[in-house]
Amino acid sequence: MKKPHAICIPLPAQGHINPMLKLAKLLHSKGFHITFVHTEFNYNRIVKSRGQDSVKGLDDFRFETISDGLPSTNQRGILDLPALCTTMPVDGLCSLHDLIKKLNNASSDVPPVSCIVSDGVMGFTLKAAQEFCIPEVMLFTPSGCGMLGYLHYEDLKERGYFPLKDEGCLSNGYLDTAIDWIPEMRGIRLKDLPTFLRSTDENDIMFNYNLESVNNAVKARAIILNTFDDLEEEVLEAIKIKYPNLYTIGPLSMLHQQLPETKLETVESNLWKEDNDCLNWLDKREPNSVVYVNFGSLIIMTSDQLSEFAWGLANSMYSFLWVIRSNLVDGGVEIISKEFMEETKERGFLSDWCPQERVLSHHSIGGFLTHCGWNSTLESICGGVPLICWPFFADQQTNCFYACNKWGIGMEIYTDVKREKVEGLVRELMEGEKGMEIREKVMEWKKRAQAATKSERVGERSMGGPSLLSNQSPL
Ligand code: UDX
Repeated sequence: MKKPHAICIPLPAQGHINPMLKLAKLLHSKGFHITFVHTEFNYNRIVKSRGQDSVKGLDDFRFETISDGLPSTNQRGILDLPALCTTMPVDGLCSLHDLIKKLNNASSDVPPVSCIVSDGVMGFTLKAAQEFCIPEVMLFTPSGCGMLGYLHYEDLKERGYFPLKDEGCLSNGYLDTAIDWIPEMRGIRLKDLPTFLRSTDENDIMFNYNLESVNNAVKARAIILNTFDDLEEEVLEAIKIKYPNLYTIGPLSMLHQQLPETKLETVESNLWKEDNDCLNWLDKREPNSVVYVNFGSLIIMTSDQLSEFAWGLANSMYSFLWVIRSNLVDGGVEIISKEFMEETKERGFLSDWCPQERVLSHHSIGGFLTHCGWNSTLESICGGVPLICWPFFADQQTNCFYACNKWGIGMEIYTDVKREKVEGLVRELMEGEKGMEIREKVMEWKKRAQAATKSERVGERSMGGPSLLSNQSPL
């Protein structure tokens, strides 16, 4: 009998590719033939930075490409999300259509495509599913709480919170407004909701794209979230009202570690080359003694912000591993002073990309200064590492609010970062009472995540029901 054939299509950004690749490997382990779709640009980038092996795959796990439609003049080092949201639904759809036709061709050596597993913000893929009469399920990569925030965009518009009256609303305290009409998000303020609502333009591309994505997703046969029921129970119940076929399948990073060994080990999706030397450096450090600092794949900060972080870390006197991506700083050049390098040479390690999951499970890591990207937040829970949160955009603010106020695993640095605050929070995290408290809490969540990823429960429909991977699967 021919294998079911799933074609997996992430949004071409690191924080979306990683969970989709893990889901694809999981489906492969359950007997699926997989076609994993990168954009042409990312495919070439991965080959260049990581070598051909990372996209070689297996006979029944193959890589293909589609166009993202972005002109080559578009600055590709920094992902231009608004441009991508405009071009992909046109060019991406066209090349996806051609790809499915090619795969389904009688002379093709792969089974016919039997389902699409697409990123939730790639709604155009639903048109291809409809045209080829195949089911589609969507993986949304944000947290449940972030997703619930997006689900309230319509409401926020109707109630007059979007668009903002004027730019002053960004700085005059207006964003502190309590949003007291979402019962599952008690205590939340406007500034904790996904940030695309912070616009004075009612035609704002990102606000409208996200709104359209969550509305469009009702056409999918099922929705998958990389989270676990225990962590977001109340929020998931609310999301289920919109999407009754909601499956929780997280943390995918924990599940991924439990997969049987296959040749897929070498298949990776990092757009930057990892620096593994940091692991040797960590090996020489005391348990729980190092602060890990990483702001993910998309954030661009100012050189002043970088400097405040640098001196906050230096003044804390703690050891740190700091990942400074080549395009982390506005203007492209990072400004790390010689004085800072000299001051911290015995206890600081700088890198431009690291194997984050391995870092977060290293015994010497005592805390994580993070932007609260959802993958980073979950990976930190899996490693049992407490957080200092500096959310930047998208669902990161919502993740930060939940991490600090609901799950008790983090402490927040407010947008206007100052070195004294960084120093103080690092000390509190590493040696203070509050630090002890959140460390214990994150260990509890780690245990609960382990329970959620026990094999018999994997991919269970949120709050019970048949598994995504069972005979009654929507795939
Ligand atoms: C973005 C948004 O920030 C996030 O909130 C949303 O849910 C997905 O898209 P990103 O900024 O990339 O994500 O952060 P994050 O979600 O944390 O994903 C980054 C991924 O890259 C993680 O899986 C992390 O392990 C990996 N990574 C990051 C590395 O492997 N090495 C690094 O040095 C940095």
